Amino acid sequence: MMPRSLLFVLLTLGSASIPFSLAASVGDTCSTNGDCGAGMRCGGCGGGSSICTQIRPIDPETQGKGLPFNRYSWLTTHNSYALTGESSATGSPLISPTNQEDNITSQLQNGVRGLMLDMYDFENDIWLCHSFGGVCYNFTAFQPAINVLKEIQAFLAANPSEVITIFIEDYTAPGGLTRVFNASGLMTYWFPVSQMPKNGGDWPLLSDMISKNQRLLVFTSKSKKEAAEGIAYEWNYVVENQYGDEGMVAGSCPNRAESSPMNTTSKSLVLMNYFRTDPNLTEACSDNSAPLLSMLTTCHDLSANRWANFIAVDFYMRSDGGGAPLATDVANGHLVCGCDNIAYCKANATFGTCDVPPSPPPSKARPGSKAPSASSTNSNTSAASSPFIPYRWCWMFEIASLALVLLLL
Ligand SMILES: *[C@@H]1O[C@H](CO)[C@@H](O)[C@H](O)[C@H]1NC(C)=O
Ligand SMILES: *[C@@H]1O[C@H](CO)[C@@H](O)[C@H](O)[C@H]1NC(C)=O
Ligand SMILES: *[C@@H]1O[C@H](CO)[C@@H](O)[C@H](O)[C@H]1NC(C)=O
Ligand SMILES: *[C@@H]1O[C@H](CO)[C@@H](O)[C@H](O)[C@H]1NC(C)=O
Ligand SMILES: *[C@@H]1O[C@H](CO)[C@@H](O)[C@H](O)[C@H]1NC(C)=O
Ligand SMILES: *[C@@H]1O[C@H](CO)[C@@H](O)[C@H](O)[C@H]1NC(C)=O
Ligand SMILES: *[C@@H]1O[C@H](CO)[C@@H](O)[C@H](O)[C@H]1NC(C)=O
Repeated sequence: MMPRSLLFVLLTLGSASIPFSLAASVGDTCSTNGDCGAGMRCGGCGGGSSICTQIRPIDPETQGKGLPFNRYSWLTTHNSYALTGESSATGSPLISPTNQEDNITSQLQNGVRGLMLDMYDFENDIWLCHSFGGVCYNFTAFQPAINVLKEIQAFLAANPSEVITIFIEDYTAPGGLTRVFNASGLMTYWFPVSQMPKNGGDWPLLSDMISKNQRLLVFTSKSKKEAAEGIAYEWNYVVENQYGDEGMVAGSCPNRAESSPMNTTSKSLVLMNYFRTDPNLTEACSDNSAPLLSMLTTCHDLSANRWANFIAVDFYMRSDGGGAPLATDVANGHLVCGCDNIAYCKANATFGTCDVPPSPPPSKARPGSKAPSASSTNSNTSAASSPFIPYRWCWMFEIASLALVLLLL
């Protein structure tokens, strides 16, 4: 007989393993979020059973922080504040379309690091508003900007190595932004315009931005505020493709009117928009799937072979698999280590040396899983499958340990 204490330990190990043995990979069928692992949720684009989808990119800092800021890619939410189901803080019903489903804090926790915010003068304050003609109304006003800026401040304070970029569609009078950012406590983290590269040079290293606590980049769409208030005019530093339907034509990646052409290398950052003119959850789900990955490559090719530093979408959690988080992992793979996914980077290896996972085990053995998609034996070009490699294997380990417990009993 084995000692009771050992039996207890084994049983504890065995039962602790059970949740992991059920943990799924991207693409596995599910009925609740709990069926999927961390960084995933049960979703998909409808039609039959639900599948586990990726909602969080891999943190590129897991591969170090020693590269210039322009050598990383960040998941970005378009109209980050325009949340489905929200009512206006004025008390009025909202008629504005919505673009996202979870609040800023939740987005940041899911690895979103770029936020697109529309700011308007309204009610003697600055509001986040999704309006027209540059004027905010009660029925288009979400909430005072200070609320969301305070959420960002709290996140930066609690996460001392994270860097956030805010893109402001700016309808505010001079002085207003400075006032509201100051009041939010965010000036502490402000990255100064004077240190932004002017002629296509590299940005400071991510590690230096972190150690200097210059962890907030703010860009405005109003050029005069750069000289007047030290708020960077976005298109002095960033090239950005056309947003909306016109920006979604396969094979093309035209710049938006305010931006220099995408291949202008004197601007060191590349922002890729990929969302419709009229946001639609169902359509965003499929847009964020294969077409987004395809546009990522198109925009790379037409942006002087530069991968997007910011990937901006609506409904960032929606896709039929990896979605916008996967697109971010792909861009980071290329930018950080020269691989097709940041999951394939090898620690301290020469750029372009990749660790592409073997094809997953036959998944027929696992209840509830879909047939594996493209298998990727020795190729370094299969970016599309899940980067959550550990999950693919842990079920075998768990079954083995359960079997061991049973044998010992
Ligand atoms: C708009 O909202 C404000 C509160 O923020 C309220 O005082 C005002 O009466 C509202 N106006 C209309 C037309 O509903
Ligand atoms: C954000 O959403 C979460 C639920 O997802 C909620 O617990 C939290 O209070 C919200 N935060 C704010 C600032 O609205
Ligand atoms: C910034 O905020 C501080 C208090 O937090 C205040 O004393 C100062 O006057 C503000 N400056 C501006 C330019 O608003
Ligand atoms: C840059 O892109 C523009 C289109 O926006 C194109 O006309 C031009 O030839 C490109 N320049 C180079 C050097 O590729
Ligand atoms: C969203 O798109 C789907 C699919 O094209 C369509 O059936 C649906 O009516 C659209 N919803 C709205 C609110 O436009
Ligand atoms: C990579 O290099 C860093 C420092 O250069 C070192 O601390 C780390 O252990 C190395 N990692 C591996 C896996 O070799
Ligand atoms: C992928 O592999 C090919 C050879 O198999 C090699 O030429 C290429 O540089 C590799 N690409 C990357 C990004 O590692």
